[in-house]
Amino acid sequence: MTDLPEHVSRNRALWDDWAVKFVASGEHNWATADATWGIWDVPESQVGALAVDLQGKDAIELGCGTAYVSSWMARRGARVVGIDNSAAQLATARRLQIEHGLEFPLLHGNAEAVPYPDASFDFAISEYGACLWADPYRWVPEAARLLRPGGRLVFLVNSALLMLCMEAEDGVAASDRLLRPAFGMYRVEWPGDPGVEFHLSHGDWIKLLRRSGFAIEDLVELRPAEDATTRYPFVTREWARQWPCEEVWKARRV
Ligand SMILES: C[S@@+](CC[C@H](N)C(=O)[O-])C[C@H]1O[C@@H](n2cnc3c(N)ncnc32)[C@H](O)[C@@H]1O
Repeated sequence: MTDLPEHVSRNRALWDDWAVKFVASGEHNWATADATWGIWDVPESQVGALAVDLQGKDAIELGCGTAYVSSWMARRGARVVGIDNSAAQLATARRLQIEHGLEFPLLHGNAEAVPYPDASFDFAISEYGACLWADPYRWVPEAARLLRPGGRLVFLVNSALLMLCMEAEDGVAASDRLLRPAFGMYRVEWPGDPGVEFHLSHGDWIKLLRRSGFAIEDLVELRPAEDATTRYPFVTREWARQWPCEEVWKARRV
């Protein structure tokens, strides 16, 4: 028995199963202080996801996985907390903390309901974490609750355009045609895949962020380098050089 929402318990089982596939990338990213983002490793200089003064600030990573983003924030002087829904992902994170001598609290839980008081943090970030796998109508208001006025929220997700062109069949790269409607995009389940994802149109992200108490500061569309590579089959470099396949939202708590 669990009182987790259905999508959270399904995603917990999925990520406990998938965690082994994310050990190597976690080890690689923990080993460098130079942040790179998304499936093409776009350099921080082009993204600016951590381009705020983190020294002495309270920061939380929502869906931290192996917690390499948290390690980058800790190395920039932040007091970091990571929360993740998967015990197996956190086991890797804990091992890497010890190996790198960089320890901070890691919570096993749902980023839609974080056990911290209101206004506990100055910065919240998620890279394909809660921002993809948790319900945006729950995790965005929760992030707003956790942040102090003036605090920043940054999250990286698949672009809305990619979600319209993504092939349903596993292992097949995105089409250059629109395969599904944009209106009504929200909860997404792929055939044969036990997980539950959430994707919104740009208009719906803007409405939700503003309604939750955020001012939107930027939307960065990531473009891979000409020679970039990825281990993910769902989009080609040729596609991603023409259209944004990943986007970073930056918002400020008003
Ligand atoms: C792709 S990983 C993100 C971590 C890392 N940035 C990466 O790209 O490998 C997705 C993580 O989100 C976590 N997650 C999924 N739903 C969550 C939820 N409701 N609350 C907290 N974490 C969640 C999963 O357990 C998983 O570790």
